Amino acid sequence: MKVFQYPLLCVLLLLTISCVYTDLNRDHYLLSPDESLSFTFHVDQQNISYSLKKDGNTLIDQSQLGILADQFEFADNLQIKNVSRSRKNKTWTQVWGEQKQITDHHNELAIHVTSNSHNIQMIIRFRLFNDGLGFRYEIPEQKELNEFKILDEITEFNFSEDATSWWIPAYSYRRFEFLYANTLISQISRDTYSKLVENLNGPRLGPEAVHTPFTVQRNDGICIAIHEANLTNYSSMTLKANGTRKMECDLIPWSDGTKVYTKVPFQSPWRTIMVGNNPAELTMSTLTLNLNEPNQLTNTDWIEPGKYIGIWWEMIGTNQSTWGSGPHHGAKTEKVKEYIDFGSKHGFKGVLVEGWNTGWDVNWCCSGDGEAFDFSHNHPDFDTKEITEYARKKNIRIIGHHETGGQIQNYESQLDSAFSYANRNDIRVIKTGYVNDVSQNIKRIGSDGKIYKEWHHGQYMVEHFRKVIEKAAQYQVSLVPHEPIKDTGIRRTYPNILSREGAKGQEFNGFMSTKDNNKPNHTTILPFTRLLSSPMDYTPGIFNIKEYRYHSPDNRTVNEYHHIPSTIAKELALYIVLYAPVQMAADLPTNYEGHPAFQFILDVPTDWEKTVVLNGEIGKYISTARKDINSDDWYLGSITNENERELNINLSFLDADITYKATIYKDPNNGGWKSKPEEVVIETIVVKKDDIYTASLMPGGGHAIRFSPL
Ligand code: NOJ
Ligand code: CA
Repeated sequence: MKVFQYPLLCVLLLLTISCVYTDLNRDHYLLSPDESLSFTFHVDQQNISYSLKKDGNTLIDQSQLGILADQFEFADNLQIKNVSRSRKNKTWTQVWGEQKQITDHHNELAIHVTSNSHNIQMIIRFRLFNDGLGFRYEIPEQKELNEFKILDEITEFNFSEDATSWWIPAYSYRRFEFLYANTLISQISRDTYSKLVENLNGPRLGPEAVHTPFTVQRNDGICIAIHEANLTNYSSMTLKANGTRKMECDLIPWSDGTKVYTKVPFQSPWRTIMVGNNPAELTMSTLTLNLNEPNQLTNTDWIEPGKYIGIWWEMIGTNQSTWGSGPHHGAKTEKVKEYIDFGSKHGFKGVLVEGWNTGWDVNWCCSGDGEAFDFSHNHPDFDTKEITEYARKKNIRIIGHHETGGQIQNYESQLDSAFSYANRNDIRVIKTGYVNDVSQNIKRIGSDGKIYKEWHHGQYMVEHFRKVIEKAAQYQVSLVPHEPIKDTGIRRTYPNILSREGAKGQEFNGFMSTKDNNKPNHTTILPFTRLLSSPMDYTPGIFNIKEYRYHSPDNRTVNEYHHIPSTIAKELALYIVLYAPVQMAADLPTNYEGHPAFQFILDVPTDWEKTVVLNGEIGKYISTARKDINSDDWYLGSITNENERELNINLSFLDADITYKATIYKDPNNGGWKSKPEEVVIETIVVKKDDIYTASLMPGGGHAIRFSPL
């Protein structure tokens, strides 16, 4: 070869090549825009990994990255081929939300790698915001690859401290509907959960793992939550625990063990690490939304945040009515018209009606049956035409309900007829439901005609939930799924997914006795865990807190083992603390009519200009202030766990130069969830921005305030 005639040139060339090579195959660094967070990407023969620091303190120690697929492995023996950087600082506007404007300010690092053992290319993209880190794996289109199966994702989250954490178990029968356990990371297991919170009966399927958002608080107060953003065509990430402070990504598998079926071009969801100096700051993170794609819906005029009432609590709570046929069937035309009258008189946007359709009379709950559900045929008691016309006249809409019993193929075969029925009958919002206890119980008939049982949160269901969102949008319908897949910020891309359940909600206070219902601290944990991901259809607003439930619709004597661990003032504060663009006034109209505290429910908005979380300790208390999007009103909600406390609240969030009338709804002295929960003190004072307000919260109680300019 001619080149060897020029040895010096040859040496120089080799040096240059090796310089470029060694230059790229080294650590790469990234700083957040405010330089508080610093990130390191590391590669060596053994693995690729990352670590994260805040103000010089390590939050996440070296943690492995990688993907194992049927046709390739990206884990070790990798070469960095290219490194690119970019930055963004742009503000965008939400269709609805906790705040109108969101700023996407981040620095990006993209590492392009190939493996020494195959020719396939992958990019790992990191985005560092002031409130945390997001990263994902991308496999671009390339000759060698088309369809492939992911067998494992080896993303680790190696916490530098065995910190205290709040978690719910994955692979357990009631999906996300659990109270939270609070233990060190190293103590996470189903046995621990069974000891501390609730006995997890049933077969132990799947690994020891927790759902996300998974929240920890370090000794220095810093809070970290692991979650994911833009979960699309992939399976839900849980975090596997192994008795140490290291968590590993665990993808919920298909029934054949494959984690994900996919093809190029491929992008995994973003793995997210939200960081806040304290719990309140953590809740303000906008990282998840910033890592989702912009709104895909060109016209959003039909998407309506607002409040609703419904034929619901009388089944699930007071036990006086039934979903299915019979003398106590709730969804009867006359009853629906009464709810329409009440809702319309008080300016509600919607009336939810459950049990309006056919299919409830078989034993659908909770073994995964529900094939009889028909989503465009009304129960004979429910006169669709008459009700639609009546609601139209009264300027209110019916909120539809699709309980599927987890029968996905039955539901998918009816999506067009179901949503066109809704569209024809002025229904703009539908609550869906997937009650199907025992989580790996979603029936799927494969192309081979055989029955397979899928997990509630695997790829099959992720794709199903997306299909429904897209189909609903075609018919201008918005959704509030119960028993959903967790939100990962998809509401940015499809703002017709308004809210969802996906946690232990008020319903458990309905059908569970005091021993097993939600504890007073549950709602003081939700804002720092489940609500980090999205709005929640918790359905607050129960005023009849004691002696509300009958033994059965036939036996209308009071079952005194049911007592909700809340107070009326706390129920009001939940409208502020637990954000949802559609909020239910969940109690019966008779418990609201003429009640002075009902005014707060009528006043409180569901779409906000701004939100400020003022204080909070996870599992203890929180105060949240929000400004109405349509006026200069501010609202403040504070709640506490089982302990009484005083909170000194700095009103500096209020607008300058405005004097406000503050209408306060609070627990009476010596009140609380056990004593006088149904008493609420209402008083008004005059306040300004520079005032400090002291809120006295009674055990299990709360405090709600409307500030309106004078
Ligand atoms: C469970 C849901 O969470 C609840 O709201 C609904 O009423 C029942 N399923 C029946 O669909
Ligand atoms: Ca539920």
